[in-house]
Amino acid sequence: MSSKLVALFLLILLYLALKCHCSTPQSRVKAGYYYMGIGNVISDLNSKLFTHLICAFTFVNSSTYHLSINSSTEQQFSTFAHIVKTKNPFVTTLLSIWVGREHLLNFFSMINQSSYRNSFVHSSIETARLYGFQGLDLAGLVPTGSSSDMANFGTLLDEWRVAVNSEAKNSSNPELLLVMAGNRLPALGSVIYPIDSMRRNLDWVHVTAYDNYLPGRDRVTYFHAALYGPSNLANTDSGINEWKRRGFLLSKLVLGLPYHGYAWTLTSPQKNPVGAVSTGPAFTKDGSMGYKYFKWYIRNYAQEAVSGYNATSVVNYCTVGLTWINYDDVEAIRAKVSYVKQKGLLGYNMFQVRNDDNWVLSRAAAQLRYWNMYKNDEKKQRKDSLHDPVKYPFLLQALDCQDCYRPDSSLTSLGFVSTNEQLTPL
Ligand SMILES: *[C@@H]1O[C@H](CO)[C@@H](O)[C@H](O)[C@H]1NC(C)=O
Ligand SMILES: *[C@@H]1O[C@H](CO)[C@@H](O)[C@H](O)[C@H]1NC(C)=O
Ligand SMILES: *[C@@H]1O[C@H](CO)[C@@H](O)[C@H](O)[C@H]1NC(C)=O
Ligand SMILES: *[C@@H]1O[C@H](CO)[C@@H](O)[C@H](O)[C@H]1NC(C)=O
Ligand SMILES: *[C@@H]1O[C@H](CO)[C@@H](O)[C@H](O)[C@H]1NC(C)=O
Repeated sequence: MSSKLVALFLLILLYLALKCHCSTPQSRVKAGYYYMGIGNVISDLNSKLFTHLICAFTFVNSSTYHLSINSSTEQQFSTFAHIVKTKNPFVTTLLSIWVGREHLLNFFSMINQSSYRNSFVHSSIETARLYGFQGLDLAGLVPTGSSSDMANFGTLLDEWRVAVNSEAKNSSNPELLLVMAGNRLPALGSVIYPIDSMRRNLDWVHVTAYDNYLPGRDRVTYFHAALYGPSNLANTDSGINEWKRRGFLLSKLVLGLPYHGYAWTLTSPQKNPVGAVSTGPAFTKDGSMGYKYFKWYIRNYAQEAVSGYNATSVVNYCTVGLTWINYDDVEAIRAKVSYVKQKGLLGYNMFQVRNDDNWVLSRAAAQLRYWNMYKNDEKKQRKDSLHDPVKYPFLLQALDCQDCYRPDSSLTSLGFVSTNEQLTPL
């Protein structure tokens, strides 16, 4: 009798668990980019912490305008959707198409011609289906070019949506999701995204709210992904408000969060290096480094590291001698996830999940209790405990730092950089 009761109880629990899972994709988006590189072990990815995983990047072939996957990783792209579902059958997978920087002219000439658009649209849908993806993501397009480029982009989205609709009907599969990574600001100068078309055709837009200040470009230090800040400095909140002002729905915006930070070299030791003069990047060519590498470095080598959390700007930082690092740690991630909730955004999207350190950030973000609880009042300075007294500076070179942020060197130059105000158009 009691075992029957237990069984019934377990059944009810199972039912509730399933019900809860099934409603996740419609409610909040907890997404992450997965950057594919040679030798990646996809099964290491803890897909339970995400509702959506975006496999990056594919490209648009400049002669055929078909979607193209680099042959060195095509095999891994083809198994991604299957592998991540073994740990979490409910995770939704998307395939990302990079069209930024040196790919932008090619993209603009593709969207300028109906037949090219048609080739692209159909091949993107075919490729997504072939490899079991449930959606497509367009990344790297900032508001730039001419107004006719942006109008063409609006047309592409209309046609893409019609094709996605019609393919779903023909194949009786659920419709593919259609999303894009948008710039922090929806307009730069006089160029504005085709907001109406984006609203109509996209399931959501994730805002790349990071890389605002770069040690390889800017000569004065500032936080690359501040949530708040003075109005003359780029910050996430002012970007989100601008999207709203331009008529985009907050409920269709997903906040992009960085799993990387930047290391700057100072000219002299500073107590508070914000706004200090910098001679350029530290550690790597562009100063970018994945979260797990910063943590590893701070734990093991930086005897004199002073870490802190700036609750006004919502960023973590760390000073080691003449190096100043700013990045998002657990405090910043929690506060930003809480902002997502407060502001009524659709969710968050991490770039990129392989830079997490034992899933610390992804867990902090995914834990629903923080969605209500977290308050930005935590301010602390701490001296990181030291495990190894070895002096640090050149040890990082022993690390495979190409892997720190953007593993593909060709991507380092085209970047995933929303250069915002300082954009130099093509
Ligand atoms: C683009 O497609 C053409 C024709 O299929 C092929 O020869 C070429 O190698 C492709 N380019 C790239 C960069 O993949
Ligand atoms: C494909 O990937 C390899 C290794 O990352 C890279 O050297 C090569 O340039 C890539 N090819 C294209 C067409 O992007
Ligand atoms: C777009 O198409 C028009 C007319 O077909 C042409 O004049 C223009 O040069 C094209 N622009 C680009 C960027 O290909
Ligand atoms: C769906 O089928 C219709 C009729 O056969 C066809 O015209 C259309 O191109 C198909 N759509 C896609 C996306 O394959
Ligand atoms: C915290 O951020 C503000 C800018 O929002 C800045 O003025 C201040 O110096 C920062 N404090 C520290 C300790 O970094």
